[in-house]
Amino acid sequence: MRIILFGAPGSGKGTQAEALAQYYKIKRISVGDILRQEVKKNSSFGKQVKSYMEKGLLVPDELILKVIKKNIDKKDFVLDGYPRNLSQAEQLERLFIQKNIDTYVFIYLDVDENTVINRLSKRLICKDCGANYHLINMPPKKDKICDSCGGSLIQRKDDTPQVIRKRLEVFLKESKPILDFYKKRKKFIKVDAKAQKDIVFNRIINLLEKYD
Ligand code: AP5
Ligand code: MG
Repeated sequence: MRIILFGAPGSGKGTQAEALAQYYKIKRISVGDILRQEVKKNSSFGKQVKSYMEKGLLVPDELILKVIKKNIDKKDFVLDGYPRNLSQAEQLERLFIQKNIDTYVFIYLDVDENTVINRLSKRLICKDCGANYHLINMPPKKDKICDSCGGSLIQRKDDTPQVIRKRLEVFLKESKPILDFYKKRKKFIKVDAKAQKDIVFNRIINLLEKYD
């Protein structure tokens, strides 16, 4: 099982990637999380990507490709946050050929703009382990404390109204060529992702079973 999860900011990529990784016992590769860890460590890589992320812009392809090459091998995976533009999709296809990876499914989590804004403006993440919450839809058991590790919950730096708008703008600009690219390859599943987490998850699983 190799899954590429694609969708707007706040479409639920991270949430569903975690659930799918657990369900299929596969590796989760969340590019945004990897980048945020590098920024937090203040590594030289983190320093290179920080300003793009804070502005809601895509980090240059060649930097992201390093992350992808390091994390993708023949083992099954769910990939969240890559590719984000046509050139990344083409790079990924080349990498799959190099690594003899011939089967995968591309899943498009389809949401509308209001859903995105509602989800992102009320999202909280754990500052220690990165776990994801939502004040209303997926609240922690204790106020502002992570259920998994007890760390404090904070707002993501790029979840301000201005940066959310920019991220959405980038997504709208880049998404059509990617969707066309994967539709042509007939490895394409579109899921209505506006419903609650478990409903969306079951929709994905059902579609994946049919796909086989
Ligand atoms: P990234 O971290 O990937 O951010 P994003 O794409 O903007 O997506 P989000 O993580 O905000 O949303 P999500 O779809 O994961 O939704 P989530 O599950 O959290 O990337 C950040 C930045 O890194 C980019 O802007 C860019 O700068 C850089 N970057 C990353 N990848 C790159 C690449 N390939 N190339 C270049 N640059 C790159 O859910 C959102 C909220 O909703 C949560 O609160 C959650 O609890 C809640 N929720 C989720 N599902 C549901 C549901 N079904 N019902 C109700 N609430 C839900
Ligand atoms: Mg995410």
